[in-house]
Amino acid sequence: MLLWTLCAAVLLLGLLFLRFPYLHLDLQHVLSKVRTGRQIRKHIQSNYTVLDRFLDAVRTHPHKPYLRFKDETFTYRDADALSNQAARVFVQSGRLKQGDTVAMFVGNEPMFLWLWLGLAKIGCPAAFLNHNVRSKSLLHCFSCCGASTLVAAAELQDAVEEILPSLLEQQVTVYILSDTSMTVGMESFTDKMSLASSEPLSKDLRSHVTLHSPAAYIYTSGTTGLPKAAVITHTKLWFLSWLQCTSGVNSSDVIYVSLPLYHSTGFLGCTGAIERGITVALRSKFSASQFWDDCRKYNVTVVQYIGEIMRYLCNTPKRPNDRDHRVRLALGNGIRADVWREFNSRFGKIQIREFYGATEGNIALHNYTGKIGAVGRDSFLNRMIFPICVIKYNVETEEPVRDSSGFCIKAGKGESGLLVSEISMRTPFFGYARDLQQTEKKKLHDVFKKGDVYFNTGDLLRVDEEGFIYFDDRVGDTFRWKGENVATTEVADVMTVADCIEEANVYGIKVPGQEGRAGMAAVTLRDGQKFDSADVFKHVENFLPAYARPRFIRIQSSIKVTGTFKHLKGKLVEEGFDPNLITDPIYFLDEKERNYIPLTLDVFNGVTSGKIKI
Ligand SMILES: *[C@@H]1O[C@H](CO)[C@@H](O)[C@H](O)[C@H]1NC(C)=O
Ligand SMILES: *[C@@H]1O[C@H](CO)[C@@H](O)[C@H](O)[C@H]1NC(C)=O
Ligand SMILES: *[C@@H]1O[C@H](CO)[C@@H](O)[C@H](O)[C@H]1NC(C)=O
Repeated sequence: MLLWTLCAAVLLLGLLFLRFPYLHLDLQHVLSKVRTGRQIRKHIQSNYTVLDRFLDAVRTHPHKPYLRFKDETFTYRDADALSNQAARVFVQSGRLKQGDTVAMFVGNEPMFLWLWLGLAKIGCPAAFLNHNVRSKSLLHCFSCCGASTLVAAAELQDAVEEILPSLLEQQVTVYILSDTSMTVGMESFTDKMSLASSEPLSKDLRSHVTLHSPAAYIYTSGTTGLPKAAVITHTKLWFLSWLQCTSGVNSSDVIYVSLPLYHSTGFLGCTGAIERGITVALRSKFSASQFWDDCRKYNVTVVQYIGEIMRYLCNTPKRPNDRDHRVRLALGNGIRADVWREFNSRFGKIQIREFYGATEGNIALHNYTGKIGAVGRDSFLNRMIFPICVIKYNVETEEPVRDSSGFCIKAGKGESGLLVSEISMRTPFFGYARDLQQTEKKKLHDVFKKGDVYFNTGDLLRVDEEGFIYFDDRVGDTFRWKGENVATTEVADVMTVADCIEEANVYGIKVPGQEGRAGMAAVTLRDGQKFDSADVFKHVENFLPAYARPRFIRIQSSIKVTGTFKHLKGKLVEEGFDPNLITDPIYFLDEKERNYIPLTLDVFNGVTSGKIKI
């Protein structure tokens, strides 16, 4: 009898497994999320922040390196002492009030972390300005976080001087990270810091901080418009810093951070390291040629990536020591399936943990099953606790599709749609600093029933038959042409495989008399190569459907990118294909010639007047 019951149970389990092959992984994943949630709720109840975790780490392993930078090593104790000194400069100035925001305009260097830790110790949030931003945009970013103090790296002095009159008008305190300052209105910082005591600061200085207080502001480009300062509360910081833990990083790992610290991925590499009590090897700026040398030098075991980094690494010339390193785990997002395969075959067995999440979002996905290319899974278990959904989206109007009663419609299996996630107590959305309008813009109301609210990720994803989720595109990174959606990244990927093309930035432009947008690719050529129009045409024809083939190709000497290597498109879109305005050579796809031909004034006039069909 017992035997029969046992057999039946085994059979049932077997059937269950056949029907739901990922059930055990889904269950594991949901349980680990629930555990994380429980852990974080415990922290909230006891008001335990990432800073408290850092101070505990200082007590338990003071001599363990926290940070390696160039040839310097800073132990946990060093980091503690230096951040105490940094905090004292602010305290002694007497100009910071409780909870005031301090804007940091600093690149990837140890001071970035000492400042953030120091500010956390006195209960002040830091806003991380992108150090590539200048003049008007810089002022905008500074103003939108509501800071009254600015701390800038010495090499950014010129950029600060440019906006100094406006800052002084607003009575902003401006520090420069140097020992002296000759500029009126700009105070030196590091001299004061080296004189300050490194003794611990009183906990009273941060007694007003709760897990709901802002810990930092991180700027995101959002889907449109100027950068916005996303509020990272201490709770949110915990959630974001948990990624290393859930990805299996353990206390003997060393993580390599080469992404900008002013973005969430880079910064969270350092706070996640605090949570794990590990060592960070920091680089001032990502370099494809130095990447593996650094990994060897610092005994790196975990690296961070974004898709472009993996591509750049795969594009470097092969070296005999490509597999000579200790990296076992790569954490990041945006890697394409082909690059993923190439990376693994070239650099050895490295586990890739692809995840998806927006800095300001209330959602995080990650591939816990090892499915190539997937960012996560949409399992019914997960949905029960964290309600996410992919809904039908109209790329042209940039609006979700709604049915006759005004509600959104779930996208079909395999259909690309907008990812949204319900905003609730468990999955809150903290919005942007002092920008209710932008915060409101990220919310979708009345999605499935009257009164519900969802976070609009602004990303197009797709769920396949088995429930794997794939990232398709950012809204705005697609355009419509001949009734079809063209994904710019997809076209760019194909273009860069052509022999002469190094990099491609693909976007859609308006052509008079045409619906939608025609595809245009701004490309750079490989060293010493000429634009081989016939070859590129053949390649494009072979690999892309007719509607996705770029109608225009613009040859550039370099492609402008943002701090995270995203291509800048706005200006290019605006410039279009008018040879009167553009000095770069432009080519036009000529169907009859079966070639890309130079875009002369004649051709331009032919296209705009409609004489030449495109
Ligand atoms: C950390 O993980 C690595 C790889 O799985 C393992 O070799 C190592 O022993 C682990 N270390 C600790 C302290 O658990
Ligand atoms: C890396 O590991 C080697 C061998 O275990 C050791 O000799 C070396 O000191 C380590 N380097 C660093 C920067 O930890
Ligand atoms: C994600 O998929 C890759 C590719 O198979 C795999 O190597 C990696 O381990 C997966 N990540 C996780 C978290 O399982």
